[in-house]
Amino acid sequence: MTLKTLSAVSGMAIVASTAALAEPQAEVLHYWTSGGEAKSVAVLQEEFAAGGGTWTDMPVAGGGGDAAGTALRARVLAGNAPTAAQIKGPAIQEWFEEGVLADISAVAEAQNWAEVLPEAIAAHMQCDGTWCAAPVNVHRVDWIWANAEVLAANGLEMPTTWDEFNAAAETLLAAGIIPLAHGGQAWQDATVFEAVALGILGAEGFRKAFVELDMDTLTSEEMVAVFDQMRTMRGFVDSNFSGRDWNLATAMVMNGEAAFQIMGDWAKGEFIAAGKVPGEDFLCLSTPGEGFLYNVDSFAMFEVDGQDKQDGQALLAELVVGESFQEVFNLNKGSIPVRTDVSLDNFDSCAALSSADMAASNESGSLLPSYAHGMALRGAQAGAITDTVTAHFNSDMSSADAVQMLADAIANSL
Ligand code: GAL
Repeated sequence: MTLKTLSAVSGMAIVASTAALAEPQAEVLHYWTSGGEAKSVAVLQEEFAAGGGTWTDMPVAGGGGDAAGTALRARVLAGNAPTAAQIKGPAIQEWFEEGVLADISAVAEAQNWAEVLPEAIAAHMQCDGTWCAAPVNVHRVDWIWANAEVLAANGLEMPTTWDEFNAAAETLLAAGIIPLAHGGQAWQDATVFEAVALGILGAEGFRKAFVELDMDTLTSEEMVAVFDQMRTMRGFVDSNFSGRDWNLATAMVMNGEAAFQIMGDWAKGEFIAAGKVPGEDFLCLSTPGEGFLYNVDSFAMFEVDGQDKQDGQALLAELVVGESFQEVFNLNKGSIPVRTDVSLDNFDSCAALSSADMAASNESGSLLPSYAHGMALRGAQAGAITDTVTAHFNSDMSSADAVQMLADAIANSL
């Protein structure tokens, strides 16, 4: 019996049956391999084992998940899909359209996901009226992280405008400190770019450009200014930035070699895993500008044969949305719980800021999906933007040429 057939059965029955059958299996493909990420995924492995399951780990190193995406595609094409994989955003719908995802509606209904998840997030997890993915967390992308001691020693505060950021960076350069810890990988370039774009275009401009792909916005003077700021920031990274992993860039901020990093709050997971304290050792603030770029990790299950695997999928889906996992995992991961009913009492000040800003952005219409982390666009369009961003960042291309390349790349990808 497949999960699809099972979903016709009462939701409660399937959750109970996972314990009764007692041998759930799951081979889980994910890209959580850094220090903080490994600690986080270990929480899930422990809960899975405690639920009677056997976990087969398939980690594919590579921040942002590009390598994991390639490995997943190869597995599915070879007819050997993993039981579960870390995929998110529109990619969930793309996999669903290929007819390879399992239906986890039975668990979702039994656990009342529709009630405990924010509507916008629930929508990402639903395919054609069924539940096709289980959400794990809410990561915020538009963050600046800083070494508290380095800022204090140089008489600097967290920047609240891009001009302040540039001025602080000049001061740091003069003091012989690397202003911006950055890893030259396409997805990291895209992460910085979308934070800059949110600040300069504003929330509405960001939505028009990176959700609606509005050509007027993509080719506007403001977009030229976004690339100008990227060019300025190219001058704030060290000469060894190419290819550097994001967690090594975080380590540069931790050890005071660099002052700032612009990265999603999985970076906080690294600081925490290293025993650093927010507000004391490191500082967090949203990047200059209004709005909130969200990035929701999730697991989708693939159609697989075998009751043990299907039970593993049900157990996994049940655990990740469970309250205990939501708290412990997110404390390690740097994100906040995706459920609205999990208390933040044990979370730090950065998480409290994230939660408050998310609620306020939701009210004001500036809660936006991250394009750089696969929440806003399908792969072809997101890839077209990132190719342009990286080509510009790694050359002396003018901002005007970058905007032209952006428009052409988007047009060709549609
Ligand atoms: C993000 C993902 C995070 C984290 C990060 C670095 O796209 O959502 O969970 O893994 O990449 O790999």
